[in-house]
Formats: sequence, structure tokens, C-alpha cells
Amino acid sequence: MKLAIVGYGNVGRALARLLRQKRREFPFTITGIHTLRHGTAVDPAGLPDDAPLGPRAGSSEEFLDAAGADIAVELTTLNPSDGEPAISHIRAAFRRGMHVVTANKGPIAHACAELREEAARAGVGLRFESAVMDGAPVFNLWRHTMPGVKVLGFTGALNSTSKVVIETMERGGSFEEGLAEARAMGITEADGAFDIEGWDSAAKTAALANALMDAHTTPQQVATRGITRLTPERLQEMARQGKTVRLISRARRSGSRLSLRVRAEVLDRWDILAAAPGTSNVILFHTDLMGTFGTVSIEPGVEQTAYGVFSDLVDVSRLKRPV
Ligand SMILES: NC(=O)c1ccc[n+]([C@@H]2O[C@H](COP(=O)([O-])OP(=O)(O)OC[C@H]3O[C@@H](n4cnc5c(N)ncnc54)[C@H](OP(=O)(O)O)[C@@H]3O)[C@@H](O)[C@H]2O)c1
Repeated sequence: MKLAIVGYGNVGRALARLLRQKRREFPFTITGIHTLRHGTAVDPAGLPDDAPLGPRAGSSEEFLDAAGADIAVELTTLNPSDGEPAISHIRAAFRRGMHVVTANKGPIAHACAELREEAARAGVGLRFESAVMDGAPVFNLWRHTMPGVKVLGFTGALNSTSKVVIETMERGGSFEEGLAEARAMGITEADGAFDIEGWDSAAKTAALANALMDAHTTPQQVATRGITRLTPERLQEMARQGKTVRLISRARRSGSRLSLRVRAEVLDRWDILAAAPGTSNVILFHTDLMGTFGTVSIEPGVEQTAYGVFSDLVDVSRLKRPV
């Protein structure tokens, strides 16, 4: 199947490497790459590996028309305030009868129900596994397993950058050094403030609530406080008492009320939400039939984000009808 990639940064490039690695078994062809400042490359017959980017297409619509792909892969920068322009990119792809795979949580955090409906009307698939916890099954877990189980809530340590910053400060480094370390790993949002002020976690919380709990919410409706007030001294003092801090997302439904929040919480070092090192993420689902269970991803990097996109591409390429 032919792919048009909108956004070619850390994740887009990692995806291109993965597609090359798995080409024999999974013969996807990239027919277009479109960026904001670095230009565009298009060849409906398939771009060569490491194709240079030329002049930028006039618009994302013009790009999608030229690329003539079956699947649009939306990998542009997160905008937690309204999910744009990614939402418009996705709609433009639907109008052209293209499936959409995205790692961008903005659209799911702001317009999950609408986009799912529009995809169904257009007869195409919409997948977004890497929007939360990279390629570890979170959304597709519920798509493909757990029939009849209802999600009543979730608790997660979902932001890798804040963990890297906290661990750097526990070792005596500064806040800025921690952020620089996370940025060098390619895991930080283009605007690192989104990670440390909690907006990345709020967008993930809203996306999870929308996709798994029919919430119709937005990141702005998640009560959010980040880690900006932490200091190395405070963290080292807590470490001496066997404690640490994690940016925790919580969702809980009671009756018709859904409460969503993101907070820097003090946890015992052995707490399941705190114990995994570095970039590791944990989510626990609270359910009606399966009690509490979860998914853990140990030290994921951008290759695992690319894998989540890849697994979605394989999934939509097998669709006979939209689901
Ligand atoms: N990195 C991770 O570990 C990770 C994990 C999970 C999810 N994600 C999500 O994946 C997405 C991509 O992340 P990333 O780390 O690859 O970001 P990135 O390195 O900042 O790359 C973003 C890309 O999007 C392009 N872009 C931005 N606005 C655009 C527009 N209006 N039209 C066309 N292209 C546009 C940029 O163009 P230029 O190159 O010209 O600037 C760049 O190529 C984000 O939504 C992020 O939240 C990332």
C-alpha cells in the first residue's frame, strides 16, 4: 500500500527506517513526504530511500492529491490547545478516501468521536496506537481483545520526558540538564514545556478517556499540574526517604461524572507506577470484569513509537471494511 507522510521529524524518520527493515515482509511504499519548513517530496510510483525534500507543496491538500496514497500518516507536532492542523490533515485524507494512521494525540484528545464517525462515513480506518505509550498495545488492546469488558478508569505514568528530568535531578543534575537529556533521546515534544507543564499527559488522558470511555472531553478539561516546581534538593530529600515523584494521569467514572486529572504525585519508590526506570511507561486499567490490570513498556524510544505506527499500518492494510 502507498503511504503519504505528513510530518517527517523524529517519528517519521524512525518509521522510514522501520519500513525499510521490514520491506520484504510488509511491502509498503512511501509516495510522499510533507513537512512545514523542510519541504516536500512526491512520487506516486514510490520515493527512493532517503529521497531529498524539494520545494514545499502549496498545502497539505495539494500534497495529498499529488501523493495518490492509500494511507495518510499524520506525524506533525502536537498542538494540545486544539489539535490543529492535524485534525484538518486527517479530514483532508478522509475526503480523499484515504485511511489515516497517526501518532499525534492532539486530534484524539480533541475530536475522537467526530473523527471516528467521519472515518466510518468515508469507509476508511483511523488508527492512533502510538498516541499513548508508543507501540505498546493500549488502544488496539481494546480493539482486538477484552470483549465485553468496560473501562471504568485508568491510572498511568505516561510521560517519559518528566521521568528523565526527575531522575536527572535525583542524581544532582539540573532541571534543564534533564530536559536536554530527554530532548537528545528524541522523546520530547517540539515544545518541551508541554511535557513538564503536564500538557502532553493531559492530552494523553483526554485521548484515552475519549477513545476508551466515550468521554467527549478535551485536554483543557483535565485538571493539570506539571513538575515545574520540583527542585533537585527536594527530590534528593524524598529519595533518602524511599520516595520519588511521577507525573500521574488518573481517570475515574462515578455515576455520570468523569473526573480526569494530571498531577506530580509523591510515590513510594517501589510503587508499580514508579518502579520502572528511565523512559518507561505504565498504565493500569480499572474495569468491571477484569479488575485492575495493565501494560508496561520498559525504556521505549522513538523506534517503539515508529513500531506503533507500523502496527497500525499493517492493521488498516488488512481492513475489508472500516471498524
Ligand atoms: N517522539 C516521540 O517519542 C513520540 C512518541 C509518541 C508520539 N509522538 C507524536 O508524534 C508526532 C511527531 O513527533 P516527532 O517527535 O516526530 O516531532 P518532530 O520531530 O518535531 O517532527 C514534527 C514534523 O512535523 C512537521 N510539521 C509540523 N507542522 C506541520 C504542518 N503544518 N504541515 C506539515 N508538516 C508539519 C515538521 O516539519 P519541519 O521538519 O519542517 O519542522 C516535522 O517534520 C507528535 O504529534 C508527537 O506528539 C512522538
